[in-house]
Amino acid sequence: MLPSGHSLFGSLTLATLLVGSALALDPCAKIAGNATASFGDAMACLDYFKYDKEIARQTVDTVRKITNELYVFNEVAALPPKVEGLSLSAVNITYGLDLIIQQDWKSDREFQEAIALLLDKVQDAHLSYSPFCYRQFIFWQPIQLNSLLRNKRLITNVAYVKNDVWPEAKEEWVGCEVTEIDGSEAMEMIVNYAVNNNGESKDVNTCFNNIMNTKSYFHGWDDGADDLGYHRFLPAQEFHNYTMRCAKKGTLPVQEDYDAPFTVQVPWIAQVPPNFNTADDYWSNFCQSAHRNDMSKRNIHYDLHELKNIYEGQVFALDSEGRSAAQNAVGSSKGPYIEFIHLDSPNEKVAVIDIQSFSIASEDRQTFADEFIQGLQDFEEKGVEKIILDLSSNGGGDACAGEFLISTFFDSTPDYPSDIKHSPFLERVVKTAYEQEQTKWFDYRASGFTGSSWFTETKEYARGQEPAVKFSQPVTLSCGSWSDTISTKKYKNTKWKSSDILILSDGRCGSTCAIVASRLRLSHQVPAMGLGGIRGNRMQFASFPGGESDRLSSFLMDLEILGLANDPDAPSPFPERADMGWTFREVYKPTEKFNGSETDLLEYSAINADCRMHFDDNNADDIKKLWADVAKVILAGQCPLIEQ
Ligand SMILES: *[C@@H]1O[C@H](CO)[C@@H](O)[C@H](O)[C@H]1NC(C)=O
Ligand SMILES: *[C@@H]1O[C@H](CO)[C@@H](O)[C@H](O)[C@H]1NC(C)=O
Ligand SMILES: *[C@@H]1O[C@H](CO)[C@@H](O)[C@H](O)[C@H]1NC(C)=O
Ligand SMILES: *[C@@H]1O[C@H](CO)[C@@H](O)[C@H](O)[C@H]1NC(C)=O
Repeated sequence: MLPSGHSLFGSLTLATLLVGSALALDPCAKIAGNATASFGDAMACLDYFKYDKEIARQTVDTVRKITNELYVFNEVAALPPKVEGLSLSAVNITYGLDLIIQQDWKSDREFQEAIALLLDKVQDAHLSYSPFCYRQFIFWQPIQLNSLLRNKRLITNVAYVKNDVWPEAKEEWVGCEVTEIDGSEAMEMIVNYAVNNNGESKDVNTCFNNIMNTKSYFHGWDDGADDLGYHRFLPAQEFHNYTMRCAKKGTLPVQEDYDAPFTVQVPWIAQVPPNFNTADDYWSNFCQSAHRNDMSKRNIHYDLHELKNIYEGQVFALDSEGRSAAQNAVGSSKGPYIEFIHLDSPNEKVAVIDIQSFSIASEDRQTFADEFIQGLQDFEEKGVEKIILDLSSNGGGDACAGEFLISTFFDSTPDYPSDIKHSPFLERVVKTAYEQEQTKWFDYRASGFTGSSWFTETKEYARGQEPAVKFSQPVTLSCGSWSDTISTKKYKNTKWKSSDILILSDGRCGSTCAIVASRLRLSHQVPAMGLGGIRGNRMQFASFPGGESDRLSSFLMDLEILGLANDPDAPSPFPERADMGWTFREVYKPTEKFNGSETDLLEYSAINADCRMHFDDNNADDIKKLWADVAKVILAGQCPLIEQ
């Protein structure tokens, strides 16, 4: 870690004496307009903004309101059940916020990151805090790693180098085995990092896959960029040391005949966002919230334009690959959603459906449905007998699109019970939504309940150490209005049974994807193959299946529509440009007798894959080779359903 600002101040004083310009005092101006900056220079710019107690108070107040009143797992997170196969650490968010607000932070960045980290620790990717002020730089490790099975050993391998940001990175390092990182055994360092620094999943295998680089297998899901070698936030240290051994000239890595190992010290390199010249510009372009000036007024109206920009992800100056984002939305996904792929001989009886996202834009629904049915008809005509359903790196999206997929295969989608956390404030929201017949809060139904009574007539279940937390009645989400917007061709699958389909997933099948995959696996007995992860332990094929999530940006737009922006319990917009996500609806496993037990929650259940595959030297850079390897397994019947 760079001692904060030390060497910096030394050189700045000197520069000021020599040049006497105000520019030299402004660490953001120093790097403005440059494509890249060193770790230290980027940090000096980001840490230029002072900790502000009032900003902190308002930020914590909003996070507290959301987690207490709306986050459905707030109580269970503070004392989670013990579940074999999951790494569940207890996180009492209220207590964590108390500690954060008591500290005197060195900079605004450190405060903002502490909030983000606290929510990350719950390991529910739906629960997040994103301070966009500190998500504008992209930090790269010029060495990008993947993990491969080589001669039955899982190794760390240089997948590619980023010599565009650091010319000293050598192409010949690609394919070298990394044996040590920062003086520790490489795999051990990476597993520790996955456990401690990645909040995506409660399964460590999924976190491991998330932080490793799988360039050939990147579906473009930019999930906040907390990989081992790719961050949107300031990394914890300036350098990493890699000890490598490379195959002797003329030999293949798999022969394991290596030259003498060597160690290189590799810096983090910052890609600098465009569109600022000074720290003041940086603040007003990336950090200043449009709401802020109105915050003290009694009559709150949100800046809807700002909320929409945030919601659509138009708040990053650089896209996920470090290009100037201009008008590109980083957070939103727009096709291709799904691809139908035939495999070459000798696996031509197997085909792949690669589903990259369920976030189907409403104007694309018809095309999605048509292409899905067309794809299956085409498979049938070509005599495809087995289907690989590749759900890797699918961040979810529209639950009704998922339901469409399951029903197309199996004619029905099993219902999973779900419910929404109750609070007096949300009760006002739901009641108003029913009066006005507006917003998503009007979309839920419970059999035997009319109007909003599914929400107002509460149920109580034990959660964590709390004996009675209030929830709505078990509800279903009606996909009627989704189906009404499309006209589907008549299609009935009579060709493929459950055992003819195989779910393939690196565990990063999240949210709606997780619910789709678990329904296929648990209710329709479709087997699942886990891809990657740490060798020797069982792996789940889906992550953060919590239920349904919301974001502050869209929730505030709902409040504005419903005229509830002035409700005393309504969360205020963040004082800095930031967004927060949380799960508000929890989904349970199918149960014979529903009793609201926390151990029946999908989010707190381990559902393991039935078999496993790892990348190797042959298939890591070629997804079609990987699918061919999976095809061999499915044709040989080597991935049967295993009793959970
Ligand atoms: C910014 O880029 C200019 C031109 O390439 C270079 O001279 C200067 O040293 C760079 N500044 C920093 C802080 O890297
Ligand atoms: C969190 O800890 C506080 C004490 O600091 C306690 O009062 C509260 O009940 C805990 N919250 C939960 C959800 O367990
Ligand atoms: C990397 O190696 C250098 C030189 O041997 C050493 O000074 C430094 O402390 C090491 N850094 C880490 C993070 O291990
Ligand atoms: C609720 O049902 C689950 C099985 O679905 C069972 O394991 C649990 O003991 C039940 N809990 C209560 C409080 O009845």
